[in-house]
Amino acid sequence: MKFTRANALKGTVTVPGDKSISHRCVMFGALAEGTTKVTNFLQGADCLSTISCFQQMGIRIENRPDEILIHGRGLHGLQAPAGPLNTGNSGTTTRLISGILAGQNFVTDLNGDESIQSRPMKRIMEPLALMGAQIESLKGNDCAPLRIRGSRLHGIHYTSRVASAQVKSCILLAGLYADRPTSVTEPYLSRNHSELMLRHFGASVTSEGATAAILPEPKLRAQEIHVPGDISSAAYFIAAGLIVPGSEILIQNVGINPTRDGILKVCRKMGADITLLNEDSGNGEPTADLLVRSSTLHGTTVGGAVIPALIDELPVIAALACFAEGATVIKDAQELKVKESNRIDVMVKNLSAMGAHITATEDGMLIEGGHPLHGAVIDSRLDHRIAMTFAVTALAADGETEITEADCVRISYPGFYEDLEKLCRN
Ligand code: S3P
Repeated sequence: MKFTRANALKGTVTVPGDKSISHRCVMFGALAEGTTKVTNFLQGADCLSTISCFQQMGIRIENRPDEILIHGRGLHGLQAPAGPLNTGNSGTTTRLISGILAGQNFVTDLNGDESIQSRPMKRIMEPLALMGAQIESLKGNDCAPLRIRGSRLHGIHYTSRVASAQVKSCILLAGLYADRPTSVTEPYLSRNHSELMLRHFGASVTSEGATAAILPEPKLRAQEIHVPGDISSAAYFIAAGLIVPGSEILIQNVGINPTRDGILKVCRKMGADITLLNEDSGNGEPTADLLVRSSTLHGTTVGGAVIPALIDELPVIAALACFAEGATVIKDAQELKVKESNRIDVMVKNLSAMGAHITATEDGMLIEGGHPLHGAVIDSRLDHRIAMTFAVTALAADGETEITEADCVRISYPGFYEDLEKLCRN
């Protein structure tokens, strides 16, 4: 797919539902009693993988155009699937479902695409084993395919080496089936959607700083959930609005949970003109409309506690830094190497191809901004966030940019190119 420089971006856009929250609606809805109704569910390939895994375990899920209905069968209502579960490209599906499967009374094999088969699973295998689970990497490389034999689980306190909501959520979900309370402490607080939503479904979950704890065997009750727009999807329009001169974009109904809003904090530190309008806090997940105007940006340092709150936005932040005056340092972000692609490597290679002054470090990137970018052929490596980052970067670069396998955006934002084009046309 090809992109060229844009004139000012104008207009209003509504991004699709939050990916993390959509996954959790299906999983928790399946384990609840009664019918959970979800509106603004993300119809991205990752969330469809979650739906399909639970359907294979006997959960009836009606995916209608305006809402999805999950007919939950309670904490002990899942059935053994007829064959291996396919989690596609989705790390969230793979890691969270493992916590649930660890507490069942059947054996499940779990596998996904090539990217999933290279992503580290030791981070969940280790705590689940400590809880008494039998979880095996079938190729012996601590990656999927995994075989999980449901077992009697024990509550533990686990100190995680990584700030990861997938690890934390996996352990809390296993904790639903344990014989005593379970808790997890992370180096920094990661996104807390599981804690908020599990509480909403009736589980007893407490949070204190970077520790979350859960009591076993709750009765989860079905809920009605409206999923807020995904700030990780909004990030591409934020960036486009900031770097294309003369732009003014209103992004409606975006989730601004403080464990996810790092991009807003960093953009503001870089001098961005972003105004929050219509702030609301339904269901404990705050939302706002974001008014973004093109801005003169300056470099900054991104690291420490803010990293988990913008981990998926770091590729587009690296791109933004190319348009800022001075240096930007991204550090404490080694996790980028084990996402859908190695996002440090892919960003450095692709931005360098466009003329950026960028170098990789052990735990991030150094970017010297202010050097004009030009078009290039961009290898997306089938990573949705890389394709969207470069579609936006190309709008402020000279010449033509071609993105390979650009349709990988279907993972988290199937209508991305159409929405971007509308803003360019206005
Ligand atoms: C997610 C957590 C993050 C994030 C991913 C979604 C979640 O992963 O990058 O896109 O929904 O829990 P990690 O837990 O690996 O940081």
